[in-house]
Amino acid sequence: MKSIELKILVPFLAIIIVSLSVVGSVSYYGSYKILESLINHPLYAASGINADYISNQLLELQKYTILVAIIAIIAAAQLTIFFSYSLAKPIKKLAAACDEVSKGNFDITLDYKRKDEIGTLKEAFIRMTERLKEYIAKVLEVTSLNNKIVDGVNYGILVFTRSGKKLLVNRLASYEFNNFPIIREFIDNLIRDFLSGNTPSSSSSTMINDKNGSSKFIEYDIQPSEDNYILCFSDITEKERFKQKMEYINRLTSIGEMSAALAHEIRNPLQGIKSCLQVLENKFINADDTSTTLLNLIYGEIERINNIISDLLNYARPSEPKPEYIDIRREIEDILPLLAHLYNKKHITMKIDINPDCNYIFIDKSHFKQIIINLLSNSINASDENTEILIYTTKNNDEIILSIKDQGKGIPEEDLEKVFIPFFTTEEKGTGLGLSVVQSLLVKNHGHIWIKSKSGIGTTINIALPFDFAHYVRFRNNNFA
Ligand SMILES: Nc1ncnc2c1ncn2[C@@H]1O[C@H](COP(=O)(O)OP(=O)(O)O)[C@@H](O)[C@H]1O
Ligand SMILES: [Mg+2]
Repeated sequence: MKSIELKILVPFLAIIIVSLSVVGSVSYYGSYKILESLINHPLYAASGINADYISNQLLELQKYTILVAIIAIIAAAQLTIFFSYSLAKPIKKLAAACDEVSKGNFDITLDYKRKDEIGTLKEAFIRMTERLKEYIAKVLEVTSLNNKIVDGVNYGILVFTRSGKKLLVNRLASYEFNNFPIIREFIDNLIRDFLSGNTPSSSSSTMINDKNGSSKFIEYDIQPSEDNYILCFSDITEKERFKQKMEYINRLTSIGEMSAALAHEIRNPLQGIKSCLQVLENKFINADDTSTTLLNLIYGEIERINNIISDLLNYARPSEPKPEYIDIRREIEDILPLLAHLYNKKHITMKIDINPDCNYIFIDKSHFKQIIINLLSNSINASDENTEILIYTTKNNDEIILSIKDQGKGIPEEDLEKVFIPFFTTEEKGTGLGLSVVQSLLVKNHGHIWIKSKSGIGTTINIALPFDFAHYVRFRNNNFA
């Protein structure tokens, strides 16, 4: 691109050169004509003036004319350069200022003063820049407010295109994706299914399971927005668990209160029966075999009723937990001998596989013992001879998951929901209180339980518990917030 100075200077010089040529030619031609008319004049011969003399004089005149013309050209050229420069300089400054504004720099100073149109242009430019600055500041303010809102809300937000490209992922969504790969996988699948029209509903809540069998509850909603879609989701696991706990506690209060009152009423007369029986036993010191068998039978049944009452009270009014750090392997190794008569009878191999990363939990020791005994007794009861029961741990983000996996008969799908209901049992000698007690104790210790089972293949019971004091307190606060 030619500069503005050149654009003014070049045509000007061209005009000057042409004018000079014209002046030179006219002067030369004029001198020639003057000389010719003098020589041909009738008085010329009489005057005696030499033609060379006249020609020299004319030549002299021509030289002066040309000299004056050259001086005039130089002066004019200088003026033109000055003029074009003073015209071009502010325009160049304005162009540089425009460049700065386009880069986002609005603090421009234009240090020239003019009263002509270029001056007006400068004023207009400065006004425009100020308005632009104000406007952009407002846009930035609104954008930053929007970002704060989008990042500050209590649910994950994603904006995605029709081709599935994610345009925006807010802070909570990124946090969930980084910390819970199952949520990322679920959302990716949801977007894919939604775009291919395979999602039954654009808003729903659902439960997702990871490979450990641990579950999360997600609530989501997808809405179209111009050419894109906005997906909002929320991890409602804590809320859902709290809801389930509340349902459970309600159930517990109605069934439990009544049963606990009843259990108390039964325990005293039962103690009376036992004492009377001991008196009678002393009287029948030489009793025959049948009487002894019957007496033992009555003692056995009294013991059974006592156990049911203890279970009932454990379920309805579990003692206040005194949590402490429990070495899982050590505790289980202490519990196993108590059940040895049951699993040895069936030649069941008990295998413990405690991950060194997750060998401690924070729970009341006697509650833990009760939970493990109840769960292991169920597994042993359900197992066939010569099978294996595996006790292992894994770590979730916030909890330790202790799993008991047996190769027993499994739980039919329709029974899975019922096994936690008090008195539900499929065992001939069962009370149906084992799992109810486990759940009750877990609630007290801020843990939870879930079951994976397949009829004929086996059952895995998973219990999740806080692994340190900080998590124990956090779960306690979440539960009672
Ligand atoms: N590991 C298991 N394998 C198969 N079924 C089980 C298992 N654990 C529990 N169950 C089922 O759950 C029911 C309830 O268990 P529980 O509450 O401990 O009561 P109980 O053992 O007295 O029957 C059992 O009767 C059984 O049907
Ligand atoms: Mg049981």
